This record gives sequence, C-alpha cells and structure tokens, in this order.
Amino acid sequence: MQSPLLNNNTPAMTQTYPVCHKEDIPENGSKGFSLEARSGEIEFFVVRRNNHYFAYVNSCPHTNINLEWLPDQFLDSNNELIQCSLHGAKFNIEDGLCIFGPCLGKKLKSLEIRTEDDHLQLITDY
Ligand code: FES
Repeated sequence: MQSPLLNNNTPAMTQTYPVCHKEDIPENGSKGFSLEARSGEIEFFVVRRNNHYFAYVNSCPHTNINLEWLPDQFLDSNNELIQCSLHGAKFNIEDGLCIFGPCLGKKLKSLEIRTEDDHLQLITDY
C-alpha cells in the first residue's frame, strides 16, 4: 500500500498506537477511546461485528459532537447501526455512511485498525 503524501511530496508519517485486547470489545458491541497522537488527542470508537473491527473518529458529521449516548454506547437498540445520540442519525457499521437523519449521505471519518497478537492497533498519520 502506498503512503499518503504531504503537499511537498514527502510521505506522511504513520504511527501505530495500541488500543486494547480484541476481546475487550464484545461481539456486536462498541467501545470509545481517546489517545494522544502526534498532532493532538484523537477521540474514536471501535465497533466489532462478526469478528471484524471498524474504527471511526468520534464526531457526528451533522454538528461534530461526540456520538455516544452513554459511555461505549454507539449503536442503536438492535446493535445494527451506529446511532448519534443528539438527533438520531444512523450510520452503517461497515462504511460509516449515514443512511437516516440530518446528515444523510455523509460519512463518519474512518480510521485504520488492525489486529496483532490478539490486540487492536490504530494506524494513523494524525
Ligand atoms: S449531531 Fe448527530 S445527528 Fe445531529
């Protein structure tokens, strides 16, 4: 995979950050995190579905507030979609696309996450 380039054609510096053990997130569950990256704090959350993990910046594209209604509660009552607590926008878990609500058609900002030795790692150039 090619590294993203900065404006001066210098490859962006990606960093890898430990997140948690993969079993810390229940199947069909979600968990919020924040970590100090090179350019400042990143607030994000991870959703686990069918043993796949999806990570997004914790910011609703409608007003840029955090999405969760309680700590680690990013999903709707059926655990089928990501739901924003303020105006109820709903997003696909797999691609972050808003399919219902005031930001219809917009996407959550996805983050790259991988599993290494049963632990999740966030890979970002933030
Ligand atoms: S702030 Fe998320 S739907 Fe309005």
